Amino acid sequence: MSLEDRDALRLLRDAFAPQDPGPPETNELVHRFYTHWFALDVSVRDLFPPEMDAQRAAFAHALHWVYGELVEQRAAEPVAFLAQLGRDHRKFGVLPSHYDSLRRALYATLRTHLGEAWTDAVEEAANQSLNLITGVMSGAADADEGPAWWDGTVIEHMRVSRDLAVVRLQLDRPMDYYPGQYVNAHVPQCPRRWRYLSPTIPADPGGGIEFHVRQVPGGLVSTAVVNETRPGDRWRLSSPHGGLRVDRDGGDVLMVAGSTGLAPLRALIMDLSRYAVNPRVHLFFGARYRCELYDLPTLWQVAQHNPWLSVTPVSEYGRDPSWAADYPDPTPPRGLHVHQRGRLPDLVTKYGGWGDRQILICGGPDMVRATKAALIAKGAPPERIQHDPLSR
Ligand SMILES: Cc1cc2nc3c(=O)[nH]c(=O)nc-3n(C[C@H](O)[C@H](O)[C@H](O)COP(=O)(O)OP(=O)(O)OC[C@H]3O[C@@H](n4cnc5c(N)ncnc54)[C@H](O)[C@@H]3O)c2cc1C
Ligand code: HEM
Repeated sequence: MSLEDRDALRLLRDAFAPQDPGPPETNELVHRFYTHWFALDVSVRDLFPPEMDAQRAAFAHALHWVYGELVEQRAAEPVAFLAQLGRDHRKFGVLPSHYDSLRRALYATLRTHLGEAWTDAVEEAANQSLNLITGVMSGAADADEGPAWWDGTVIEHMRVSRDLAVVRLQLDRPMDYYPGQYVNAHVPQCPRRWRYLSPTIPADPGGGIEFHVRQVPGGLVSTAVVNETRPGDRWRLSSPHGGLRVDRDGGDVLMVAGSTGLAPLRALIMDLSRYAVNPRVHLFFGARYRCELYDLPTLWQVAQHNPWLSVTPVSEYGRDPSWAADYPDPTPPRGLHVHQRGRLPDLVTKYGGWGDRQILICGGPDMVRATKAALIAKGAPPERIQHDPLSR
């Protein structure tokens, strides 16, 4: 049986491996595959954004993992993953015919790529695995009767700092998600470019949803959202993903938020505030400047009414820049912990490794990596530390 031929599957897996040296998107096979697929099926090209590097990396990574599981003769997890991917792909406008052209293009590219190594056994393993991958994805997409996406209208856009916006939307139908999850979002200013955003409030049966967006330097979508989003804009959101959570019976909690990394932690805190008794939660909320700690007034209000929550505001620099005067002053009334100056990884670990805590870290990838490494170096058990994927 070809899906039991581990040598053949290993060969296919290795074709999707990141090439050394170089970033993952340099996989030559995947490059050639997309060129071939777009030539074979011109209707497919229009679904993708012009810049394909991140996509090539995500595709290679997914297939490398799936083939790795098949090599180990494990089917349950990859089948569940592919089914979810297929359901999620409905929002891109993927059609059954696209799966057929993908299968043919990938088969042909693999065959050319493997050259002399292409034996009858590899041929059979390739055919069966490609049938499995495309069959599971398209089958799950067909079978799902739930919504493929959620559309909503922007009702409020607040520029809370130079690089930060709070965006509120009214969804056409409510979305059910767990606090701490994130969605893939599509905004009208940037067609075909989907970016992950984390709702900042728990799911609202009335369909309200809120996002906090930070403009990253040179960032396409975040720049558009912070500068150009207007009430009336129509956004499209994917189904929710991610598993950040607080176990209310799992002991005290440390949360570390860098800038809009606050979003999912805020949703979790708001959810906890429905209960009278909770584990103690200590939140470090950091930014470059004090004036960028845009949500302190809300956090102050929540902490006022919920003694289990304490909040330490942190900024890298002592003085605010001159443009701070152009935006609302986020200084809360007295009552929060004393403001601290420094970088989050250094400040958080000044108090030890927090090894007895459930630890949740959210923010830019560099900050998350640095904070996690600093906590582990101070003795925090890695398995107690949660964070979202650092890229898609
Ligand atoms: C699970 C998850 C949840 C997220 N939730 C939120 C959220 O609630 N609010 C929010 O504002 N953002 C959030 N992000 C980040 C967001 O999805 C985008 O990556 C970010 O807005 C940049 O997109 P862009 O199109 O502006 O930049 P791009 O045009 O894609 O990239 C431009 C440059 O910025 C760099 N870059 C990309 N992302 C970041 C980043 N996060 N920090 C620093 N540099 C970066 C890239 O490497 C590149 O050099 C989340 C990301 C993930 C993975
Ligand atoms: C019918 C065939 C398919 C079509 C038309 C298609 C199309 C797309 C599009 C348009 C995107 C978004 C690109 C972006 O935002 O930059 C995407 C993302 C992605 N695709 Fe596919 N795809 C197909 C099949 C597959 C298969 C077979 C896999 C791997 C098993 C796969 C893995 C991924 C991954 C991992 C992502 C990134 C995650 C995400 O954005 O959901 N795709 N795909």
